Amino acid sequence: MRYALIGPIAGLALAVPSTASADLNDLGFRWLMPAWLAPPPVPDDNPMRIEKVELGRHLFYDARLSADGTVGCVSCHVQEQAFTDGRALSIGVFDTEAARNAPGLANVGYNPALTWSNPHADTLEFQSLFPLFGTEPVEMGMAGMEQELFARLTADDYYPDAFATAFPEHDGTIDLFTITRALGAFQRSMISVDSPYDRYKYGGDASAMTPAALRGEQLFFDHRFECYHCHLGVMFTDNLQTARSPFVETAFHNNGLYNIGGTGAYPPGAQGLAEFTGRDEDIGRFRTPSLRNVAMTAPYMHDGSIETLREVIDHYAAGGRTIAEGPFSGVGADHPNKSGLLIGFKATEQEVNDLIAFLESLTDERFLTNPAYADPWPEDHPARANRAMPEEVN
Ligand code: HEC
Ligand code: HEC
Repeated sequence: MRYALIGPIAGLALAVPSTASADLNDLGFRWLMPAWLAPPPVPDDNPMRIEKVELGRHLFYDARLSADGTVGCVSCHVQEQAFTDGRALSIGVFDTEAARNAPGLANVGYNPALTWSNPHADTLEFQSLFPLFGTEPVEMGMAGMEQELFARLTADDYYPDAFATAFPEHDGTIDLFTITRALGAFQRSMISVDSPYDRYKYGGDASAMTPAALRGEQLFFDHRFECYHCHLGVMFTDNLQTARSPFVETAFHNNGLYNIGGTGAYPPGAQGLAEFTGRDEDIGRFRTPSLRNVAMTAPYMHDGSIETLREVIDHYAAGGRTIAEGPFSGVGADHPNKSGLLIGFKATEQEVNDLIAFLESLTDERFLTNPAYADPWPEDHPARANRAMPEEVN
């Protein structure tokens, strides 16, 4: 299949197969994606509009959305790291440590269950309230400061006009409805399907993958390794919704990370699905993460407790993690909720290297550098002048 450059749309140019539909929707928005993939579903109350996506991008990168003006969404979701932060656990305003690792945001609109284990966080619009107003842990710390937030945005040079063009049907009102809709639309536009693997698998470019990555692909889809049973389909996860799916798929699994003192407990504040269902059989069950761009999103797992892809594979080879000493010691492989698919396997050094090469072939360089998802603010602008970025605080 040939690739063609289409665009520019708001400064965006993306290589997509030339068979892609280039149609603008009623509101002038065009999904920049190949024809082989359906777009993510779009909520009825938040149709895609280019001005809205652009407004959402400004909000995403604006640290004035936090209590003390130092934390923007970008402080924990950095484009070059596929919108993760490189930390084991994120850090919010007032140096508060989160209980979770920041997940990447590539293709996040395809995810019907957002965050690591909350089955109720089903839209991007709803999810964005957690970092803004959540108190356990505090991320942006705006609880009780809603009016202050609207006043800050109203007083800015950019926002009043931007809200007016993005939300004409709401008379440009700056409130939680429009703020969360703009953030949702921007994140829904974050599509990442242009990795070497995509060019090989869907674009027919036989030379896009290295021989090692091709061998690794065989292993990934092999019964001995079982990876594909949970990390399956176009997003490499059993959690998926598209504009064309008849139903949404959600799945949570326990992959044997902990089993404190043989009791089945996970560390405090990270019990997984059980925190929402209250059921013992859900302890340690987390949503299967997508593996797209996974080479860029270390450290791994819901609490960032595995540092490298090699160690992730060691973990699966052992059928679970054994922690020999300390407060979390225990044999994860014996966890009563552990998925029956994780029985462990033996792999040679070369097989491990090949599997890593395959995982690395899921990195979409264009996504990591696409100007459409980049910071729109000038360096000295109040939106970013006091903003903390992970590399600066580490
Ligand atoms: C202090 C760091 C921090 C900030 C600031 C932050 N996030 Fe996050 N984000 C996280 C963490 C940690 C999680 C995982 C939370 C969980 O599983 O409970 C997350 C999860 C998400 C998810 C779910 C992704 C998925 O794959 O399920 C989305 C979407 C998201 N954040 C968007 C945002 C937006 C939009 C903002 C700004 C309004 C924001 N985040 C600000 C750390 C942060
Ligand atoms: C039973 C389902 C299942 C199988 C089989 C499985 N995984 Fe996972 N995988 C998960 C779940 C669930 C998580 C998140 C667990 C957590 O955070 O506690 C995960 C996490 C990961 C992560 C970390 C991703 C991130 O963003 O932090 C990687 C990498 C990974 N798996 C790769 C693999 C590979 C390679 C295989 C095959 C050897 C495999 N998985 C087999 C369910 C599975």
